[in-house]
Amino acid sequence: MGLLHRTAQIAEEYLATLGDRRVGASLGFEDVLAALDAPLPEEGEDADRVLDVLAALEPGMMATAGPRYFGFVTGGALPVTVAADWLVSTWDGPHFGRVVSPAGAAVEDVTARWLLEVLKLPARSRVGFVTGATMANLVGLAAARHRVLAGTGWDVEERGLTGAPPVRILAGEEVHVSLLKALRLLGFGSAGVERIPADGDGAMRPGPMAAALRAGDGPVIVCAQAGNVNTGACDPMLPIVAAAREAGAWVHVDGAFGLWAAASPRLAALVAGADGADSWALDAHKWLNVPYDCGVAIVADGEAHAAAMSATADYLVASDGGLTRTPEMSRRGRQVPVYAALRHLGRQGLAELVERCCAHAARLAAAMGRVEGAAVLNAVVLNQVLLRFDDDDARTARVVEEIQRGGEAWLGGTVWRGRGAARVSFSNWSTTDEDVDRLVAALRAALATARAGSPVR
Ligand SMILES: Cc1ncc(COP(=O)(O)O)c(C=O)c1O
Repeated sequence: MGLLHRTAQIAEEYLATLGDRRVGASLGFEDVLAALDAPLPEEGEDADRVLDVLAALEPGMMATAGPRYFGFVTGGALPVTVAADWLVSTWDGPHFGRVVSPAGAAVEDVTARWLLEVLKLPARSRVGFVTGATMANLVGLAAARHRVLAGTGWDVEERGLTGAPPVRILAGEEVHVSLLKALRLLGFGSAGVERIPADGDGAMRPGPMAAALRAGDGPVIVCAQAGNVNTGACDPMLPIVAAAREAGAWVHVDGAFGLWAAASPRLAALVAGADGADSWALDAHKWLNVPYDCGVAIVADGEAHAAAMSATADYLVASDGGLTRTPEMSRRGRQVPVYAALRHLGRQGLAELVERCCAHAARLAAAMGRVEGAAVLNAVVLNQVLLRFDDDDARTARVVEEIQRGGEAWLGGTVWRGRGAARVSFSNWSTTDEDVDRLVAALRAALATARAGSPVR
């Protein structure tokens, strides 16, 4: 059998058994390292043998794409997007415009249009396919930096930030760390960011935001968030955008996973008003369920976007702007799996995927509300649930450890407002109600084991 046929067979077997396998890895880092840690071979090995070695890594992989992996906000690739991604690897070309990939550029155009439509964002916006929401935040904020400084007559791309008029940056108390990282990469630093108080679930309070805007002047960027990484809470976009407009500020929305709510008629109210912002960051590898890595940067002000991402040289022919959408020059055809996902799901399928995940979060919260000693710490508005056990940090951490050790499911821990919590995230197309019920049973059992093992201090 040919190498790629064998690979397909291995992949199909893996995916077919994903729902039945242990979710946590059964081999640890040290085990795998010990098996692999050999000197660089002097002479190359047969490709089939290399494939055997790679296939044997499987027990050291977490079943993150499976239905009972609830860690971080991870998603799980739809089979059609895995197929699309294989084709991208097979075609193996850079995707920075029509000259190098006419088909890739056409797919990019259509996918961008579909995304704007399904997310209800301004049709004039430009879209760049990047590695994830961190880079999407970077792109949106780079465009913001261009526009707000251009407003003062400062060309930041030419002159850099040294000597530039100071830019005020306002963000919620619960802003995601990746947004702060993007600000640091752009030379803004994170220490000067004005942090606006948030409500109990982590959504920025619009009153203090408006007051902060009124308290200063000069170029200003407001960073809002759709989907708090712990609670799923969304900043109230309507008043934030309105206040920012009045102040002449740029509004960037980090909507890594939460902005997908816009695709559901039932959930869109959570992010109502987000379309009035200037730039948006999303992950496709999270809730759109395409393979890692894939994020989407969207900027309404095309001129600012292109200026911030511009790169030209005589040998580079890409007058279609393909080189001015992302920080990368050569890039993978990430738009292709996104296109496949949207075409396969359709508008309805995407709405159902998002709604189903939120329904799972609600189902879990309701079930855990009936477990003595378990508490749900957040208002479950989206796909995130925070659980705490016996109101005790150590007990909660033990429950998380038990779940991770047990293999029935996987979830992580966090600290929410000073209290330890178990963090459950639903963003996988293949999760069913039964999987939620199996998680509930596993949590009950883990709690019993944790109680038997140690008394609450
Ligand atoms: C709100 C938010 N923004 C940004 C990110 C960063 O995304 P990525 O890891 O794809 O760069 C995350 C990841 O969880 C997130 O939840």
